[in-house]
Amino acid sequence: MIQIAVLGYGTVGSGVVEVLDTNKESIKKRAGEEIHIKYVLDLRDFPGSPIEKILVHDFETIMKDPEVKIVVEVMGGVEPAYTFSKRALEAGKSVCTSNKELVARHGLELIEIAKAHKVNYMFEASCGGGIPIIRPLNSSLTADEIDEITGILNGTTNYILTEMGDRYADFEAVLKEAQEKGYAERNPEADVEGFDACRKIAILSSLAYGAHVNYESIYTEGITKITAEDMKYASLLGMKVKLLATSKRKGEKFYAMVCPELVGKNSPLYSVNGVFNAIFVHGNVLGDAMFYGSGAGKLPTASAVVGDVVDCAKHQGKTVVTYWSSKVLDQVDIKDVEHKFFVRVKGNLQEDKEKIEVLFGKAEFISVPGLDDEFGFVTEMMSEGTFDEKAAACPEILGRIRIRA
Ligand code: HSE
Repeated sequence: MIQIAVLGYGTVGSGVVEVLDTNKESIKKRAGEEIHIKYVLDLRDFPGSPIEKILVHDFETIMKDPEVKIVVEVMGGVEPAYTFSKRALEAGKSVCTSNKELVARHGLELIEIAKAHKVNYMFEASCGGGIPIIRPLNSSLTADEIDEITGILNGTTNYILTEMGDRYADFEAVLKEAQEKGYAERNPEADVEGFDACRKIAILSSLAYGAHVNYESIYTEGITKITAEDMKYASLLGMKVKLLATSKRKGEKFYAMVCPELVGKNSPLYSVNGVFNAIFVHGNVLGDAMFYGSGAGKLPTASAVVGDVVDCAKHQGKTVVTYWSSKVLDQVDIKDVEHKFFVRVKGNLQEDKEKIEVLFGKAEFISVPGLDDEFGFVTEMMSEGTFDEKAAACPEILGRIRIRA
């Protein structure tokens, strides 16, 4: 029997307890021994709950118990999760987590500490919830040079964009509904501003390219400026707006960015709707692969965490190799990255068309019935830097969305 401790009895923590109870027998067979929760750490009390008797309030109880071999950190946030994880690893206990904020910020250091103490730091649930993606990058796609990862990595924003697109609804109205349904936090900033997706693409890129990607260096734009009008144009163009987190090879370097993009029907990401997540990976020998499924939620996330616990149980005394080095990934200046852009402009298509073509070059124009004071156009491929210069000379621009090639 292997004893574990769970730090945090919130949504994911209670899911971990539930999964280990529901699938006790099959998990035992797969792990080779029974996995038993000895402690659950939380500041709160849970009278009458199944964990009442194993609830502790002091982390030292867990640290002092040599029987605890695996610590599940599902507290969220950086502190005290960072200190607890570090101390557990230094004490020779493996740590499994769903904490993307902590992994993006301190993952590299915690992996190194785990290696030095012959234990494991595992974080499958930190990206894509229940979708296996960390382990495939770490263990399955090792024959490939990966040159692109593009993900819909945030369920909250994918739900909001899907609803806005289906009903031509405004961002604020759909956000409010999402909050009422529990799909968005009361403070939705990390999701809607793209910070959550940014941390996840930093983690995935670090693993895929074997070099450290600092999440703070990633250009990040959220979905708060997307409007119901944008969705009407998208529909006429036969496209959908998706918050894409991308990292891609450009020559010898890479670029990473998070932003809303217009995606056409030829992309596998077009059909990823609602709270679902998907991660598209391109490798030089693999070609295309896509990982799709439940990217958030109590049980899908807990499923990934418990999968890591089983892996730790199977690898006691041995560290599973993680391809994430301290060498910082050489990134292209975002100004040199090229896209086609969809642009909305205040004015009259017939009167202003020529002026737009003089400024932006060849363009494809589009107008939406009922939107009489504006029109839209799609540019040819151009760099971010060139687009910004041209846009600065056009005060009539109402908004722009990049188009996925
Ligand atoms: N808020 C996150 C999402 C939770 O919507 O994807 C899972 O990381």
